[in-house]
Amino acid sequence: MKLIRYTAMLLAAAIAASAQSPTGRWVAKASSDDEVREIVVALNVSPEGAISGYIQAPQYEDRIVEGTAKDGKLAFVGERDANNNTKQKRNYNAVLEVGKLKLTMPSRGNQPPQVMEFTRLSSEAPKPLPPAPPKISAAAYTPVKYNGLAKTPPMGWNSWNKFRGKVNDQVVREIADAMVSSGMKDAGYLYVNIDDTWESTRDERGNIRTNSKFPDMKKLADYVHGKGLKLGIYSSPGPKTCAGYEGSFQHETQDAKTYAAWGIDYLKYDWCSAARVYEASAMPAAYAKMGAALLDSGRDIVYSLCQYGLENVGEWGAKAGGNLWRTTGDISDRWQSLENIGFKQQAGREKFAAAGHWNDPDMLEIGNGGMTDAEYRTHMALWSILAAPLLAGNDLRDIKPSILQILTNKEVIAVDRDALGKQGVRASQEDTVEVWVRTLADGAYAAGLFNRGDATAKVTAKWSDLGISGSHAVRDLWEHADRGKFTDAFSADVPSHGVVFVRIAK
Ligand code: GLA
Repeated sequence: MKLIRYTAMLLAAAIAASAQSPTGRWVAKASSDDEVREIVVALNVSPEGAISGYIQAPQYEDRIVEGTAKDGKLAFVGERDANNNTKQKRNYNAVLEVGKLKLTMPSRGNQPPQVMEFTRLSSEAPKPLPPAPPKISAAAYTPVKYNGLAKTPPMGWNSWNKFRGKVNDQVVREIADAMVSSGMKDAGYLYVNIDDTWESTRDERGNIRTNSKFPDMKKLADYVHGKGLKLGIYSSPGPKTCAGYEGSFQHETQDAKTYAAWGIDYLKYDWCSAARVYEASAMPAAYAKMGAALLDSGRDIVYSLCQYGLENVGEWGAKAGGNLWRTTGDISDRWQSLENIGFKQQAGREKFAAAGHWNDPDMLEIGNGGMTDAEYRTHMALWSILAAPLLAGNDLRDIKPSILQILTNKEVIAVDRDALGKQGVRASQEDTVEVWVRTLADGAYAAGLFNRGDATAKVTAKWSDLGISGSHAVRDLWEHADRGKFTDAFSADVPSHGVVFVRIAK
């Protein structure tokens, strides 16, 4: 009897599912810990199964340009504005179940595709979206005066790589505590930077508010300052941030004042949805707007541009008031990502770096668990040669001694913060073996003998490739050991994906 009833129920559900149409509006929460932000899918399916409509998330809008639906299975293509005046297509798949639409969202970066469950808002065919309003075009701007900050590459910590949306007041306080107790602060790490997902809506006067994860930003800043550290925050020149939270578009001056009032010392400003409102060529002016606002805010605020290296940022980043600017897309905690960003996308940018203005190959992944210690030493050494900002991205409350040693090696950090402020270059490359070198203030050289290959390899730094001759004393920076004097070259056996990092005296 029970079995018959159960079979009947299943049959009824199947009939209901096949009878319903995906046409209508569907909604899902944009993230598990946030009630405010929603993603809406609007679908219009013709009797022949052709799909039109759109997907609206806080930070993007995808117009469905083609798609078919058959037997409750949907496949369609969404198109959105990409960062540089191009369109980006994304493939969606969905399954219609009783009262639910299970949509497979295309993967972002290295994350696997995510299946989201949408519930029905209505069954009416949605109206087509009106055409997008014209974008703000490039405008002349007054170059922003140098704020006098970041004479050496900024050092500190940022929440994104490890915590993503799970950062909150307590985490930031505990990280600040750990920064001091672990010795990171003594090694030079200063900024504690909150990345995306702290924002809420604006009040009736347009002032940005924090969400419930950050009950009182001023108090948090006081706490961090009380430890002798500085506090950083994050926003976007667009209406929404990359994670879909409130951005600073048309509130630049007001937000800079709010940050100053809270006691903020560092702003990372991330292009994200700005692509929806600005032409790509308007990027320098959009960044200069916030640069000028920060300068007028009455507080020293380091300005970090995050626009993935677009529009030849090295050529205008400093003029927009930037102390540093990202040069690539997002890093992840994998060797391939480190190799791609560090070794393949940095050479040639050295001409743009100088004291106060740095190329930013993205934050550190050291200690996040996806790479070996040898790979993390490569990360740290290469970043130091590149005069890169050193923003740890791991959980400092729970840090292995070997990782702490990598992050706090004073001789390596001294290379990164060398007073000459001259970014290093690749001196030689043979297949997967590379030597990178940086000229230091006292006339010495920091040389990284890198092995990107799969087996231990002998790597040689030839004096002729470094532009020097004669006999020079060599010191191993990881081992804190003098290796003696060498003429013409220095060679070492370097483990797979590892580095031997040396200082070659004048
Ligand atoms: C972009 C940035 C990242 C991080 C996230 C936050 O992807 O490049 O560094 O700030 O946004 O949403």
